[in-house]
Amino acid sequence: MHHHTRIGFKSNLGAIAALAGSAVGLGNIWKFPYVAGTNGGGAFLLVYIFFTLAIGFPVMLAEFSLGRRSQQNAFGTFRVLAPDSKWLLFGSLSIIAASLILSFYGTVSGWTLEYVWLSLTNAFQGQHAEEVTSVFNAFLSHPYKALLWQIGFMALTAAIIMGGVQKGIERYSKIMMPLLFVIIIALCINSMTLTGALEGLRFLFLPKFSELTANSILSALGQAFFSLSVGMGILLTYASYLPKTDNLTTTSLKVIVTDTLVAILAGMAILPAVFSFGIDPQSGPGLVFLTLPQVFQGLPGGTVWAVLFFLLLTFAALTSAISLLEVPVAYLVEEKKLKRPTATLLATLVITVIGSFNTLSFGPLKHVKIFGMNIFDACDYLCSNILLPLGGILICLFAGWYLNKALLYSELSNDHRLKIRFFKLYIFILRYIAPVCIFLILLNVLGLLG
Ligand code: TRP
Repeated sequence: MHHHTRIGFKSNLGAIAALAGSAVGLGNIWKFPYVAGTNGGGAFLLVYIFFTLAIGFPVMLAEFSLGRRSQQNAFGTFRVLAPDSKWLLFGSLSIIAASLILSFYGTVSGWTLEYVWLSLTNAFQGQHAEEVTSVFNAFLSHPYKALLWQIGFMALTAAIIMGGVQKGIERYSKIMMPLLFVIIIALCINSMTLTGALEGLRFLFLPKFSELTANSILSALGQAFFSLSVGMGILLTYASYLPKTDNLTTTSLKVIVTDTLVAILAGMAILPAVFSFGIDPQSGPGLVFLTLPQVFQGLPGGTVWAVLFFLLLTFAALTSAISLLEVPVAYLVEEKKLKRPTATLLATLVITVIGSFNTLSFGPLKHVKIFGMNIFDACDYLCSNILLPLGGILICLFAGWYLNKALLYSELSNDHRLKIRFFKLYIFILRYIAPVCIFLILLNVLGLLG
């Protein structure tokens, strides 16, 4: 088709680490426990798993097929596969949405850096729930501390992205991901020993369907998309770096299982502690930062655990943040012909400036409300609950209706070397089930379904 000196992932393991690195992030460890906490716990988990398998999986597979087919960035994919069509707008939307997500992702990632620092300096020693809470609140309302950490985090992200696909993305993901797994399992085991642990587990695993509202169903969908990194051209971009011999179906299943497992483990590590220390499971975005410092205090070698945990949370955030930054950077490099360093600097600068509003919305800009939410929550809501589902619908429609079926089949089957048994069902899901489901959920939450 066209000639490239495009560099892809070096090894299969590296590719999985990078993809899982994108999926596993703050979405699993920071967001999942509190979103589950505010949306009814067990019932939410069930709906979440259902959406992950029934909708997240087909959409992920579609993104994989598109990206690997086109060997292009999120915009270029539509330029190549759907030249001169309205689909190019969707390409642009992906670039914008990825940047917007990173703008608030950087906020929380900055918090994790502060918590690495606080843990290193033993700042939580001997503190009770109220003190831990007031430390967090004081940090958030400080005029610029959180902003400095956000800038630091964005600089780290940019440094990795400048290294490129193999020496940046792949290399760092391969180190961080296994470590993250070990730590979260260790924390989980520890949480089981807390008094009141059972109550936390019951909250997470016993469904109370009465607490499931239309909005929490939408949140489950948004959370599934957010956590899997689907809907906005990220996986599409990463998949363009996958070798042509990679089995896309098994790769996406591996990513999905890893991602869901880490979310459940994070819930099992955090929710028992929430109940054990009498913290409100509905505390929102601060939940992880309020509970874990107390868990660590009760542990022998607590400081070491605390440092390790927040460091690894930072790395989980980093491997996701780089996947988000790669979207605009690949776009600027391939479509606008900028040099990689220039593209990285430009994208990072713009995203950090937008992101500063998100960060400051917990402090100096606290009083600015959009539809009753602060800027951060509004930005998260717009991205997770509207743009990602919308992106999901568009991906389904594109892969299911616009794209030539034979072409999709040949990409999924590696040019007929693999047998794809459920192809008909897959097309049916892409064409009807997934887009209609997502659409209904969207309408419902926008109050248009009566
Ligand atoms: N999935 C990541 C997480 O769980 C966040 C993320 C990375 C993301 N890339 C994305 C979310 C693309 C949506 C779209 O933290």
